Amino acid sequence: MSEAMRTEESRWAFARRLWSTLTLAGFGLLLVGCAADAELDTFQDQGETARQINDLAVPVFIVAGVVLVLVCGALVWLAVKNRVPANEDYQGEFPKQVSHNNTLEIGWTLGPFVIMVIVAVASLVTHLAINSTEANAMEVQVDGQAQTWEPRVVVVGQQWWWEYRYYLSQDITTDDLGDPWDLPPADIVTSGQMVIPAGEEIELIVTSRDVIHSHWIPALNGKRDAVPGLYTPWKLSADEPGVYFGQCTEFCGLSHSRMRMQAVAVTPADFQTWIDSQMKPANLPTNEDSAQGRGAEVFSTYCASCHLVRGLNDADYNGAETYAGSAPDLTHFASRTTFAGGIFNLYNSDYSLNDDQLAAWIRNPNEVKENYANDLADGELPRGMPDMGLSERQISDVIAFLATLGQEPTRAQILATEVN
Ligand code: CUA
Repeated sequence: MSEAMRTEESRWAFARRLWSTLTLAGFGLLLVGCAADAELDTFQDQGETARQINDLAVPVFIVAGVVLVLVCGALVWLAVKNRVPANEDYQGEFPKQVSHNNTLEIGWTLGPFVIMVIVAVASLVTHLAINSTEANAMEVQVDGQAQTWEPRVVVVGQQWWWEYRYYLSQDITTDDLGDPWDLPPADIVTSGQMVIPAGEEIELIVTSRDVIHSHWIPALNGKRDAVPGLYTPWKLSADEPGVYFGQCTEFCGLSHSRMRMQAVAVTPADFQTWIDSQMKPANLPTNEDSAQGRGAEVFSTYCASCHLVRGLNDADYNGAETYAGSAPDLTHFASRTTFAGGIFNLYNSDYSLNDDQLAAWIRNPNEVKENYANDLADGELPRGMPDMGLSERQISDVIAFLATLGQEPTRAQILATEVN
């Protein structure tokens, strides 16, 4: 065996090893992306907008895949077929040179052109469809009065949680909203969890109070940026009652990856029940010497400059002393099943309050979810929740108080919204 042939052989062995390693790595990556119950699976559409997006994306992906295989396959096949052995003594023929083949040239000009036109038209049709809204006013009861409500929710992103505002008594438009830092009082304000009636198209008005975020609940719709000072229309709907997980999808600082949310779709009857309970102010503890009573006092002293509990501190509440100028409305805190930006379970799977996690959060928020709220320069406002330096006694008291805020969720809801 000549020296040249041995080199040739080892080159092939190396190429084969490289190829099998790459193939294995590729399959590995593919499988990692295939968890059957992944919460953020874009291919499991469960609402009209998400379905329309998939109806466009999946065929385009398949066509692109076929083109990729054809082009790469042809490239590899031609390279192998026409290769010249690395042998200086090689006397064989040089591969045949092809040029000015009209059939081929017209083919590979027209083919891509036709494909691109089809993709462009389909994209335009989908784009128009997912950006148009329908009038689907529904009747809701507000304080015992029947109201016609065009389902619409104002979505506000801030570091690092989502606020959802419901204006039930009026058909709110972006003109009525004015400045996102000073929104008109809403009938219902929640954070981290958006409750919606299933089967209805919900119009969203998306904005931000600090940096750009992006709202994305993959099973129900696509991504839409939340831009400070701008109102961007968007919509979503859920075919069936259920819980649909989402995630901020625009890098927005330290805890971007921990800025989550859930859309909780319920039946129209359950939606009305939810409205009724959310409209109520907090039921305040009557006994000042109980843990709840002491907790209310701790809340008023340490938490009330940022958080609102309707019925307790509305009179002197003037927005939060944070960079975004807001903090979650806690009037119905215990009716939600997650907290701190949708990342922790408020209830354990045995339905008891997750007070260990809640205590850890209050004890030092930065420790369990990175933020920028302590050791600030002069005049700087916190992004996230600061460590308020509460004693263990104060922490357990304030938790006892928080647990009284709002109607406890159903067990089914606790299980369905459990985050990992
Ligand atoms: Cu908010 Cu990323």
